[in-house]
Amino acid sequence: MGRQNPSTLPSDFFFGAAMSGPQTEGMWQAHGKLENLWDLWSNQDIRAFYNRVGSYAGNDMGARYADDYRLLRELGLTSMRTSIQWSRLMDADGKLNPAGADFYHRLFAAAHEAGVEPFVNLYHFDMPTYLFRRGGWENREVVEAYANYARTAFAEFGQEITYWFTFNEPIVEPEQRYEHGAWYPFAHNAARARCVQYGISLAHALATDTFRGLQESGVVRADAKIGLINCFTPPYTRENPSPADLEAVRMADGIGNRWWLDLVTKGTLPADVVDTLASRGIVLPVRAGDKDILARGVVDWLGFNYYQPNRVQAPEHDIDEYGNPCFAQKYVWPDAVINKSRGWEIYPKGIYDFAMTMTRDYPQLEWFVSENGIGVEEDRALRTADGAIDDLAYRVPFVRDHLLWIARAIADGARCRGYHYWGVIDCWSWNNAYKNRYGFIEVNLQDNYSRKLKASAEWLRQVATTHVIE
Ligand code: BG6
Repeated sequence: MGRQNPSTLPSDFFFGAAMSGPQTEGMWQAHGKLENLWDLWSNQDIRAFYNRVGSYAGNDMGARYADDYRLLRELGLTSMRTSIQWSRLMDADGKLNPAGADFYHRLFAAAHEAGVEPFVNLYHFDMPTYLFRRGGWENREVVEAYANYARTAFAEFGQEITYWFTFNEPIVEPEQRYEHGAWYPFAHNAARARCVQYGISLAHALATDTFRGLQESGVVRADAKIGLINCFTPPYTRENPSPADLEAVRMADGIGNRWWLDLVTKGTLPADVVDTLASRGIVLPVRAGDKDILARGVVDWLGFNYYQPNRVQAPEHDIDEYGNPCFAQKYVWPDAVINKSRGWEIYPKGIYDFAMTMTRDYPQLEWFVSENGIGVEEDRALRTADGAIDDLAYRVPFVRDHLLWIARAIADGARCRGYHYWGVIDCWSWNNAYKNRYGFIEVNLQDNYSRKLKASAEWLRQVATTHVIE
């Protein structure tokens, strides 16, 4: 690790939890909730979901929220991000659904009551089906519909909520749904993926602009902040790289990281990336006036979800089997440590490297680690004498190592303000459902979603309350 990492975090550094509406709430048809793409896919092909557990599951937080918030607070966590589900808050005419709004008012009130600050995100891969059928993010009407939804949410909760986020991981839908064919509608089309990415970027900027206007007029609290959250992947290539390897890094980093960093700090998209895309036939659907819209996408702070680095090298082929241009291909680093349950590399130093990149290239940007965590399939195998899941051997080192690198980044000038662990309470993981468990708190699906602290929970409480990374 080189020089000794500092082992304490600043006293005003915050610890909290990250989860999302579709992964926790359940109640998929309550409050007049509309169908979203996860409900659609679950209904069409439940076999695509691990153990046939579909979007309806959540983790029962929609019913247990008051107890859950108290439990989080007892662990020393003082904030929790969730998301409003567009399909619950709005009706199919684009108007507020009062029953959905009432649910979220109660949810946020319970968080405050427990001493947990609610961080509210507006979109977590959960497009309402009827808007997807109108073209989703490829259609400007849907971008406008999102801006209307954001305006409605800001107006409804503007006095209750201080910390807002427009999107979680806006790079994921372009990749998973449109490029890698992994999620419904299973497309393999890079041009559509970038068009979706562009549509989301406009939607983000429109919502941010709306937020500013409502804040100026007093509808949104004066101390409220707006941000965006992305899963940034520190890019690496092999030792002694060729110019083509470095070019692969430029584009992988450009599409996945710099695109969003430029948008939220400068209100622009990286010109080198847009130009290279165009030179390979991917032309963004830019309209007159878009520049002005994007210019309003500058945020107050940023969320950095960190799970894994992105190791790439020059692609073997120019074009893939679907006719898409190839800019990079995976580089398998021989020393990589892999979380076998998820297939993701564990590389804690990546959090430091990316923190330093942001400090150098975006020095004004304030940020926090908005997700980090380890999902493990064998989580249930080992139990302590009192029946708690014994996860001390892997969950504690994972979080400790990441926190140590965060502490060092802060000591070296990074403007990192806090840490949210992903899935503190086990929750539904998309089509992996409950295969890999992330929580410090177990959810027992065989016992009506009952909660039980895992062995690691006490360690988390210690660190969160003392700020000493033991
Ligand atoms: C992040 C998402 O990408 O990673 C979460 O914001 C997700 O929604 C988390 O659950 C862990 O990934 P997964 O696929 O293992 O659930």
